Amino acid sequence: MFYQYLIKPFFFLFDPERAHYLLADLIKFFMRIPGVPVLFRWIYGYEHPQLTRTVFGIEFPNPVGLAAGFDKNALLIDEFSNLGFGFIEVGTVTPKPQDGNEKPRLFRLPADAAIINRMGFNNDGLAAIKQRLQVRQSKIIIGGNLGKNKLTPNEEAEEDYCLGFEALYEVVDYFVVNVSSPNTPNLRALQEKEPLRHLLIRLQTLNDEKPKPKPILLKIAPDLSNDQLDDVIEIVMSTGIAGIIATNTTLSREGLLSADTLKNEQGGLSGKPVQNRSTEVIAYIHQNSNGKIPIVGVGGIHSAEDAIEKIRAGASLVQIYTGFIYEGPGLIKKINQGIVQEGL
Ligand code: FNR
Repeated sequence: MFYQYLIKPFFFLFDPERAHYLLADLIKFFMRIPGVPVLFRWIYGYEHPQLTRTVFGIEFPNPVGLAAGFDKNALLIDEFSNLGFGFIEVGTVTPKPQDGNEKPRLFRLPADAAIINRMGFNNDGLAAIKQRLQVRQSKIIIGGNLGKNKLTPNEEAEEDYCLGFEALYEVVDYFVVNVSSPNTPNLRALQEKEPLRHLLIRLQTLNDEKPKPKPILLKIAPDLSNDQLDDVIEIVMSTGIAGIIATNTTLSREGLLSADTLKNEQGGLSGKPVQNRSTEVIAYIHQNSNGKIPIVGVGGIHSAEDAIEKIRAGASLVQIYTGFIYEGPGLIKKINQGIVQEGL
């Protein structure tokens, strides 16, 4: 209520990207006040033995995570760990810092409960993000979402992912190979069968050389055809990587209510309009891998029911981004309570 009627209308007065940084600054400011972190944990936290689950070898206190892109630079981990998340994914991180695309590059579509973004992997780079992860206080489970720099040609992309893997190995709990962002030119070509197989074999070989290999997940686009999904399933199974995150944002603009000027902005669409396709992709992978591939379900989760739909389709964990913006931090607790009520 507080978020819906006070916080959200206030932040929605600002340009979306400015609102994001303003929110981050305010959260940082308030969380420094003694007693506030405890208060936030009391309001938003929800613990229940039924929520814990072990997925790809990691024990999660609850299955609701913050999706990649919100805390790209690992600046808010300690603060966000007080909001009830079971895990936080940082990134996408590229080896070198980069500015991303020109602004404006983030658009709200309230009529569709959606966002379009063409951020283009703006981030502080591996060194800075590694340093922040080293000094964090919170023990919350962290995923490191890896990408390539815009100026790295696709033929050399593997090097960028390997650099990311080596740099963050000590400071994250799992990795995500992001080849599905629509905002880095040609990145999605790395989802094609042979480049993808090669990339994942290389990363998994590096991983196997470590004393304690970490789960590597592949994050895929909702725009893949069933044939492409079949290839992805085969490659994930044969390379032995730990699982799939389904899905990233979509290029589709089907069925949107927002004005043409807004909906025709270039970039990836997230939120409610991607919900059904994302669930379809999860169900397809789950069924066609006989439930053997752990899936993190993300895309259009704005309520407990939406999260439960993803879990019923085959997701072991879920993540939120756009729903977090539209519904506020109370959404995390609502989802967790819903999961307990449903006995999932
Ligand atoms: C994203 N997303 C994203 N994904 C990723 O793997 N790396 C990234 O850097 C980003 N950046 C990013 C920025 C913005 C502004 C948005 C809205 C989204 C995609 C995100 O993690 C998620 O997969 C999709 O947004 C679908 O989930 P929601 O938003 O519908 O819950």
